[in-house]
Amino acid sequence: MTAGSALRQGQALLEGGGVAEARLTAEVLLCHALRRERVYLYSHPEHELSTVEWLHYGRYLHERLKGKPTQYITRRQEFFGREFVVSAEVLIPRPETEHVVERAAAVAREARRVLDIGTGSGALAVTLALEQGRELVVATDISAGALRVARENARRLGALVRLVRTDLAAGLGGAFDLIVSNPPYIPESEIAHLQHEVRDWEPRVALAGGADGAEPYRRIVPEAERLLRPGGWLIFEIGFQIEAAVRAAFGPRWRDIETGCDLAGLPRVISGRYAP
Ligand SMILES: C[S@@+](CC[C@H](N)C(=O)[O-])C[C@H]1O[C@@H](n2cnc3c(N)ncnc32)[C@H](O)[C@@H]1O
Repeated sequence: MTAGSALRQGQALLEGGGVAEARLTAEVLLCHALRRERVYLYSHPEHELSTVEWLHYGRYLHERLKGKPTQYITRRQEFFGREFVVSAEVLIPRPETEHVVERAAAVAREARRVLDIGTGSGALAVTLALEQGRELVVATDISAGALRVARENARRLGALVRLVRTDLAAGLGGAFDLIVSNPPYIPESEIAHLQHEVRDWEPRVALAGGADGAEPYRRIVPEAERLLRPGGWLIFEIGFQIEAAVRAAFGPRWRDIETGCDLAGLPRVISGRYAP
């Protein structure tokens, strides 16, 4: 079996199973089985698959057909130009979350002490640690499995991040210049209606944001008031349906509250400056 025909067969199988972007997915899974970059497939369509490569490819296709997201099969996802390790214990970092990094660069470029609440794979904490000269980056998560993945990413990418297992920011002290968070924000009633790849595979603790999706935000704002220095910034990723609820959560001690939209034009980021 050559790589070219394996690709065609994989694509047909995935299309038959209703998998979106079947061609691209087959390419990614075949590359993963061959341990090669995608360019190799185009330059070597005549590559003969070994028995082990064929078995791996078949298993990956089968897993994808059962609904497992491609990133959990390859254990990789790119975020802000870097490759992050992912496992089923963390949310797959989304491109929309890069807007949080961009907002941080826009309003808090000089922030030296940074806290990421609910770090998951560490995508935000590691990126923020590497993008600017920081003095301290602390990242929390309630999930021990997520912290293991974040630790692996920090180590692989050479970022200095202090990882703490706690409920939001409980037990932390110190004056931060910037707090970022992409907390779980799916309203309880909507979980059942999520795309099945998300609902059945991504960790529920990374998705469920209480009755209206804004509960974690209402808990994080008082924590930010405790942990930010006056003038420090809080930047949230939000779901577009909860923009009003999150803005309301900021309260009277906050200034310069601003919403930013993602590439689809939907509210995706809210930032505010703590001005007690
Ligand atoms: C939506 S995911 C975001 C992950 C990552 N920051 C990202 O943007 O890709 C939310 C994360 O918050 C964590 N989390 C949920 N509840 C938490 C809590 N009470 N305290 C700390 N972390 C929590 C979850 O385990 C998950 O890793």
